[in-house]
Amino acid sequence: MVELIKVSKEYPPDVVALKDISLSIGVGEMFFVIGMSGAGKTTLLKLLCSMEMPSGGLIEISGKPIAQLRGYHLARLRQKIGVAYQDFKLLTDRTTAENIAISMEVSYKKPAIIKKRVRDLLDQLGLADKHDTITGELSRGEQQRVTLARAVANSPTMILVDEPTGNLDAITTERVMNLLNKCNKAGATIVIATHDDSIYRHTSHRVMELRRGRLQAISGGLP
Ligand SMILES: Nc1ncnc2c1ncn2[C@@H]1O[C@H](COP(=O)(O)OP(=O)(O)O)[C@@H](O)[C@H]1O
Ligand SMILES: [Mg+2]
Repeated sequence: MVELIKVSKEYPPDVVALKDISLSIGVGEMFFVIGMSGAGKTTLLKLLCSMEMPSGGLIEISGKPIAQLRGYHLARLRQKIGVAYQDFKLLTDRTTAENIAISMEVSYKKPAIIKKRVRDLLDQLGLADKHDTITGELSRGEQQRVTLARAVANSPTMILVDEPTGNLDAITTERVMNLLNKCNKAGATIVIATHDDSIYRHTSHRVMELRRGRLQAISGGLP
């Protein structure tokens, strides 16, 4: 589904964030990208959702180079990708429910369906009582979960999550992972960037490590 061929990313003037990354991500796969701070995890996710363009190499989605996508086709691709950003990017003057509803509203879902989906997600993430709270007033751990709920709400085919458990306790971390596992079982491809080893220690999914912009397999993967 997604193929990276010798992809590199440099930030001016001379930061090499990713170097010669070759990677295939299968449809419906869930996998972890781990690595220390500064290793390139966030940059890799930004390339996957075409928020950044590579400096070298090729990224293909369903056999098509994403660099060639423009306008409508690029917008359509982005609609199929849900991203939970490391720095959240919430509308902090809007409520929790409004933030989560956004991705569904832009794809013209019915209001009753949106309402139900928002409530379900908030229940699953232990945020039922924050439905009408302005997100700027939430704790970081709560904002992080709203970010995740917004990313998955519209059932995208690919979900990218950047450090989804950084501000969470063990029980809330489990809720987050349960939700991601559920999305994966429903067919979504999921890429999780993390340095929280509690969420990948016992996983049977593929784990890849970035070290100074280079990628290596640690465990698991498709047969
Ligand atoms: N917009 C940017 N401009 C310049 N350098 C950047 C930018 N974004 C990231 N970097 C640098 O690229 C490297 C990889 O960063 P990042 O992908 O955020 O790593 P991680 O998410 O693993 O902590 C780091 O050295 C970081 O400082
Ligand atoms: Mg990061």
